[in-house]
Amino acid sequence: MAGLDKNIWVIANWKSNKTIAEALDWVSKVGPEIPKLTNLKAVVCPVFSALSEVKKAITVGNFPLMAGSQDLSPFGVGAYTGEEPVELLSGLASMAILGHSERRQNFGETDEMIIKKVDQALKGNIIPLVCVQSEKTLVPQGCKLIAYEPIWAIGTGNPDTPENANKTAKVLKEKYGQDLEILYGGSVTGENAKAFIFQSNINGMLIGRASLDAEEFIKICKVMERI
Ligand code: PGA
Repeated sequence: MAGLDKNIWVIANWKSNKTIAEALDWVSKVGPEIPKLTNLKAVVCPVFSALSEVKKAITVGNFPLMAGSQDLSPFGVGAYTGEEPVELLSGLASMAILGHSERRQNFGETDEMIIKKVDQALKGNIIPLVCVQSEKTLVPQGCKLIAYEPIWAIGTGNPDTPENANKTAKVLKEKYGQDLEILYGGSVTGENAKAFIFQSNINGMLIGRASLDAEEFIKICKVMERI
């Protein structure tokens, strides 16, 4: 294990990007380069249509990488057009990003819906990763992994400071329990990742734009080798 005795999650949120071919190219480049450290939890979250192929490539390559989804249905299997229920995802996704601010803004997602999604995820043994926009955002019961992502920092090249992210994480832990693992998200790059990893209340990063680039994602994972 590297010099840190806590889990560090490095999670790629590809959003609505990458064809299956592009996704497989990324996995073939990134998979062999991820440091094999027990406390490094690397996850890639492609679009649903690429999830099965990505999962297969990870399994065949035996890479220290998990596949995740960017959402899941608040309902089970049945008459819910367009939704991806946990029963059909659980063989493919180890985790699900839930309540991302882009979903709250563009798809009207509410705390009530996110609570239902967390319940579904837990039922299917998928780790729910709930995105909170501030220390005021509700963390549903049973959720032990969250990402603090201030809206103004997402995709802007203007990240929150590691110190402020740490302070917010501390408040969230006081509110919801010390066993909560809290990631930071918003303009994370290979350059600034290390400063977040070193914060005492931060357990990794949720990465959008920089994660699309295989080299950049490898660079972020490799920070863990040097500490
Ligand atoms: P960003 O996105 O890294 O492009 O800022 C992060 C996110 O939205 O999860």
